[in-house]
Amino acid sequence: YLNYQVPRTRKEIFETLVKGLQRLEYRGYDSAGVAVDGPNKTSTDSNNNSIRLFKKKGKVKALDEELYKKNSLDLEAELYTHFGLAHTRWATHGEPSALNSHPQRSDKNNEFVVIHNGIITNYKELKEYLITKGYEFESETDTEVIPKLLKYLYDNREDDQVTFSTLVERVIQQLEGAFALVFKSQHYPGDAVATRRGSPLLIGVRSEHELQTEQIPVQYNCGHIKEGVQEKNSHNRSDSTINSVGDGRAVEYYFASDASAIIEHTNKVLYLEDDDIAVVTGGKLSIHRINRQAGEDPVRAIQTLQMEMQQIMKGNFDAFMQKEIFEQPESVVNTMRGRICFETNKVILGGLKDHLKEIKRCRRLIVIGCGTSFHAAVATRQILEELTELPVMVELASDFLDRNTPVFRDDVCFFISQSGETADTLMALRYCKERGALTAGITNTVGSSICRETDCGVHINAGPEIGVASTKAYTSQFVALVMFGLMMSEDRLSLQKRRLEIIEGFKVLPDLIKNVLSLDKKIKEIAQELFQQKSLLVMGRGYNYATCLEGALKIKEITYMHSEGILAGELKHGPLALIDKHMPVIMIIMRDACYVKCQNALQQVTARSGRPIIICSQDDMDVVKNAYQTIELPQTVDCLQGILSVIPLQLLSFHLAVMRGYDVDCPRNLAKSVTVE
Ligand code: F6R
Repeated sequence: YLNYQVPRTRKEIFETLVKGLQRLEYRGYDSAGVAVDGPNKTSTDSNNNSIRLFKKKGKVKALDEELYKKNSLDLEAELYTHFGLAHTRWATHGEPSALNSHPQRSDKNNEFVVIHNGIITNYKELKEYLITKGYEFESETDTEVIPKLLKYLYDNREDDQVTFSTLVERVIQQLEGAFALVFKSQHYPGDAVATRRGSPLLIGVRSEHELQTEQIPVQYNCGHIKEGVQEKNSHNRSDSTINSVGDGRAVEYYFASDASAIIEHTNKVLYLEDDDIAVVTGGKLSIHRINRQAGEDPVRAIQTLQMEMQQIMKGNFDAFMQKEIFEQPESVVNTMRGRICFETNKVILGGLKDHLKEIKRCRRLIVIGCGTSFHAAVATRQILEELTELPVMVELASDFLDRNTPVFRDDVCFFISQSGETADTLMALRYCKERGALTAGITNTVGSSICRETDCGVHINAGPEIGVASTKAYTSQFVALVMFGLMMSEDRLSLQKRRLEIIEGFKVLPDLIKNVLSLDKKIKEIAQELFQQKSLLVMGRGYNYATCLEGALKIKEITYMHSEGILAGELKHGPLALIDKHMPVIMIIMRDACYVKCQNALQQVTARSGRPIIICSQDDMDVVKNAYQTIELPQTVDCLQGILSVIPLQLLSFHLAVMRGYDVDCPRNLAKSVTVE
């Protein structure tokens, strides 16, 4: 949304919208669309309120081409105020197509248009009702009920003065499910309304002051909105519940589900809460609550994000995933920074320390996540059991919910999530909260739903992860969980030797990671031998079982090869039947407590003419002589070895995907942030 004294051309507006979408493509990318003001809106002319939609199946690039090639709009037209919508879709209801992409509209005249992130679970009932009222549906989406319902309420309004936000408020009271919504309407030209429940939504604010000089801090003429922790004067509040920002002059507002879409325009953002309604009218933003309780007086802090643009750019790498793999020497340091003191051997996680007593008194720890984040829990379970001396359950969020797992007040539940928005994990969090457990988040996204809804937590500080396949977030989650174990065991005399060994291991970890990354060329050669295979087994046990699961997940999600992580202890209970001289097998055999057992597994594989590629400790001649190929890793303390052993598998999956001709950062059917159950 922009409101200017110096106009912007329509072309600039398109560029801003499309650029924002490109930054969000990692969340889903099967189709995209925009809504902008119609043809006659130029200069100060606000009489024509028509809305134009452009929608396209495929990547944002396809939409971008459509906007410039087939667009009858005057791209050089200068606009003083404008409110545009843009959306990338990842199909949940209805196949990927232009018709199913967003914005969805109320009717052929585009009276009301909306973009939606989330899922409407009661859309069928609403659709049936609206059909009985004569509304015709054109898409297969759940979203389409929203603009139609809005139009229905507008058409049947009793009060001619009814505001846009009141209509939206009425609509969302009928919706079940999760949503972040932004609305535009011909009946309310220039107004923007946005709201959320269960799906993230933030607003970036860029004011005239910042546009003239980046140096001057923004002085918002605001009511009860806080900047940072400092509360501003509330001299301009228009009523006791409405918060407002802006004085109606040159301002830009960016509504987005993720800060990466807007960070190049502003780093001043505020996060909306569930059932907040944000309205911009006449260049002025206000936020109010629906169903306001007596005495409730909401405050939304304007935060300054530290994310730098170059942080989210690809740099010299071919893909974000590759860049993120190579960032791991720094990202693990960022996870440890200010938390481990190598002089005193103290570990303090600021976000957990106030709850430490309570955590120590708990009856068990439950660590919950999905996909890679779940694997980080599996990888650290054993060391957490050892250091906390508590029973540790690790749970896949969806299965945990399916089982209605008993949870008690004296449980402590950890929720591991890179995005902090994964719907299954979020549901599990709410489930545990309802049962009175203490909840802690381990996330990579400040301000995410999981951050906000947990009682306490740790931010892993790995930096933005853009490649859909998670890499650096995994190793940072791993580090964060081990650090938690170290913090819990600080006063246990019997564990001091072990603690010191791990802290020493952390000290040299970045160098050891660099050492592993230097094997990239060799790993690429191995990929050259494997890339035409259909299947790839990854086998190991003990501390490295999680590495197998995670390695196999990386391989399947970006190379589309079948891959399975196998617990070597289970080999003779089934998987051995798969082994012959044709089946590629990767084995992880490190010098740890499982070494002898892993060597037994190796014998069983070679006895069946298997040709194993072995990830092993440097100079382990016993293993090398039985291997078809080896990837030799530096040795570290057993419980940290998984941080090193996963890296060759990350690199291998990357090279395999490139050789097979796939888009590494955008694997088919997958999205970075899975905000639907
Ligand atoms: C795999 C991957 C996914 C995610 C999973 C959970 O590379 O990225 O398996 O780990 O969808 O996502 P977060 O961690 O954001 O909760």
